[in-house]
Amino acid sequence: MCGIVGYLGKQNATGILLEGLKRLEYRGYDSSGLAVLDSGGLEVTKRVGRVKELLAAVKKSPSQAKMGICHTRWATHGGVTEENAHPHLSSDGKISLVLNGVIENYNPIRKFLTSKGYTFYSETDTEVLCNLIAYHYAKEIDSPSDGGTRFSQSVRKALHHVEGTYGLAALCADCPDEMVGARHGSPLILGVGNDEMLLASDVSALVSRTPNVVYLNDGELVHIRGNNFTISTHESEDVQPVINTVDWDVSEGEIGDFDHFMLKEIFEQPEALENAMRGRFSQDQSTAKFGGLNVTPQELRQIDRILLCACGTAWHACLTIEFLIEKYARIPVEVEYASEFRYRNAPLDKNTLVLVVSQSGETIDTLAALKESKRKGYTTLAITNGVGSTIARESDGGIYQHAGPEIGVASTKAFTSQLVIGAMLALYLGRLRDLSFNEGAEMVIGLKEVPDLVRKIVQQSEHIHTIAKKYVHKQDFLFLGRLSMFPIALEGALKLKEISYIHAEGYPAAEMKHGPIALISEDCPSVFIATEPDTVSKVISNMQEVKARKGQLIIVRSESCEMPDGLADDEVVIPDCHPAVAPILACIPVQLLSYYIAVERGCDVDKPRNLAKSVTVE
Ligand code: G6P
Repeated sequence: MCGIVGYLGKQNATGILLEGLKRLEYRGYDSSGLAVLDSGGLEVTKRVGRVKELLAAVKKSPSQAKMGICHTRWATHGGVTEENAHPHLSSDGKISLVLNGVIENYNPIRKFLTSKGYTFYSETDTEVLCNLIAYHYAKEIDSPSDGGTRFSQSVRKALHHVEGTYGLAALCADCPDEMVGARHGSPLILGVGNDEMLLASDVSALVSRTPNVVYLNDGELVHIRGNNFTISTHESEDVQPVINTVDWDVSEGEIGDFDHFMLKEIFEQPEALENAMRGRFSQDQSTAKFGGLNVTPQELRQIDRILLCACGTAWHACLTIEFLIEKYARIPVEVEYASEFRYRNAPLDKNTLVLVVSQSGETIDTLAALKESKRKGYTTLAITNGVGSTIARESDGGIYQHAGPEIGVASTKAFTSQLVIGAMLALYLGRLRDLSFNEGAEMVIGLKEVPDLVRKIVQQSEHIHTIAKKYVHKQDFLFLGRLSMFPIALEGALKLKEISYIHAEGYPAAEMKHGPIALISEDCPSVFIATEPDTVSKVISNMQEVKARKGQLIIVRSESCEMPDGLADDEVVIPDCHPAVAPILACIPVQLLSYYIAVERGCDVDKPRNLAKSVTVE
């Protein structure tokens, strides 16, 4: 996690750096810091708390510096203190460093450097690498043979000794027109502007300055000197940079009239779903089509099994996609936590397709699972919202979500957009196999109706707000649903946990009686999600079991799943729809319920404690 920004140009650096840093706050927000370099040397300011604390601190002593680096932190090594915040400064005052990642062998390096007289003021691995660069800088000659400078060579040499992952930016007190960046496992992007160069963990931090970006690859180092830059591998081989033009509307990342990004993103779902579907249906309206799969229909017909891998909310999307692909395409699917799969060495059939799902496209465990699958020779695809992200670039092909920037840490529109893409993929794979033209055409109609149906559901937000107020003080919740509603139950429980800090569990409704029923009391409400008329009588029995134990029932149901009078304590009715898209509709009320409960509890909805949106460390 953590976000980094670097700037070298002709403008005042502080404002540009902090504007970029605010856009990266979703990556971590326990502390932040800034280092600027001018004729007076390196000046470092750090604060515990949000970027606004840092902003207030730097306003007190404005700098005229034209270059600098900054960082927003999500603690990995060491507690949340000013000492542990980045940028770090080497004990000789020469090098300043910001880092996103983890230096795993920091301990022996720290001991070595201590023996050489270097002093440490923090508990962090980053300060160790910062001093290691300073150590090499002190030993380097002025004109190294690789064509770089003493500073760039010292960064390269230090990186030869570290194990772990990093995206970093460094400054040297002696080099007023140089900045060095490097990446291995954590994202780093170079922005090539007019008379200015930027580095950032994510394009959102630099698109207001330039649309021209270079996505660095693992093992690459970028050396910026004034208006020029060179990219090379850690082994000093030159890399020909590819400059991409980013199509990104900065205003999409603004909060507008909404109180929170999460609410804005819940309300943006109709458009996000439309964008996910735009141009992706066949001319005869009986199947889906995707431009970037890079796998032929013939190859897809050979697939015997699909492995879905992801983390967090995206993992819940995978559970839904499993259900859809098995139902409509009849291909066996397995779903794995990426963090487990990467170490499990699971045996896979040779005709397995590996599909990873990631909103950011940068989650390190998902990326590692993807790389491990590629190493074993499997065809890999990705569903991601991160255009140009590492996962998008590393996979053999994929499907972009086009959901627009998602800033709220709790994923909402990215999740439902993954579900709609999953349904389209199930349709496409089904039509390559046994799904008939008519079945396909019905599904296309069902998919196209979704945005308007979602619009109708978000119109119920005030009703859901009223329900939320009744349950604000509960400390435990159950979320229950069967079949395709089980992943939505899991997602509902996760949303509530993430943003309200209320304990919540998602279960298949019928499993409740094998354990969770012991939790039922007046203090533990149950949210039931029922949209399938075929199983609704069974779900009603489960509801009755809760009621009999004085549990309160909040029921999210479709119009045709009628309930006995008086059963629900509270109810949200969603429109009937094609079963393939029911999970999308059912998810909206649970998102809103969690949102309003969190708001009523006074929680910081967009930046919940301890969480980061993009987890780029293990
Ligand atoms: C973090 C976020 C979750 C997200 C998960 C996977 O844990 O807090 O909201 O679902 O990472 O992120 P990805 O970008 O891979 O979808």
